[in-house]
Amino acid sequence: MARVLVTAGPTLEPLDPVRFLSNRSSGRMGYAVARALLARGHEVVLVSGPVSLRPPAGVELHSVESARQMLAACRAAWQDCDALYAVAAVADYRPKRVARNKLKRHEGEGQFIELTPNPDIVRTLARTKGTRMVVGFALESQRGEAEARRKMMAKKLDFVALNGPEAQGAQASSLTVLGRDGSRSELGPAQKSALARGLVRVTLGSRGS
Ligand code: CTP
Repeated sequence: MARVLVTAGPTLEPLDPVRFLSNRSSGRMGYAVARALLARGHEVVLVSGPVSLRPPAGVELHSVESARQMLAACRAAWQDCDALYAVAAVADYRPKRVARNKLKRHEGEGQFIELTPNPDIVRTLARTKGTRMVVGFALESQRGEAEARRKMMAKKLDFVALNGPEAQGAQASSLTVLGRDGSRSELGPAQKSALARGLVRVTLGSRGS
């Protein structure tokens, strides 16, 4: 049995106390991965952005909003985890300035939102992976496999699960799971719960657990 860290959902990057930048991730895939791991008897630490899903029974849930909060929660959890599934759709950028008060209508005209890069959570954690397994996702609209393999090498992933933009928010989709060892598995089309079980089988299963 392993203790596994899973990131899920979108991140929310504030502009002012009431407005934010985010994306369409529902968190379904990450929560399904957490459930699939729990069903195989693993302990799961789920670091989740804001979603409207019920947490799986038995999970250790850490709810966060921004990418920086997600990184802080993950760093702490990663110390005693054996594997990571980075399923979250982390915003790559956040507004450089967050207004302390709600921006007024007249303050918007002619203004630009200046962005600054967010940390890459999976890349940061993978730097200290040692022999631990790290699985990432790649959402690609073009040149899928080549781009996913590039991400796998750049981020030091053991596996990358490739899907298309139609997967965001959907109940069902397909995944191509590429391994650093050259392996390749096609999963689906299927419900995300079945895809998640397949993903856990071809990744953690490859380590004999
Ligand atoms: N990821 C992360 N932290 C980020 C961005 C991405 O941990 N700031 C993780 C995702 O959880 C996923 C993987 O990195 O497992 C790939 O995410 P993706 O958005 O496809 O890749 P990017 O690095 O953002 O590349 P690009 O936007 O250029 O396609």
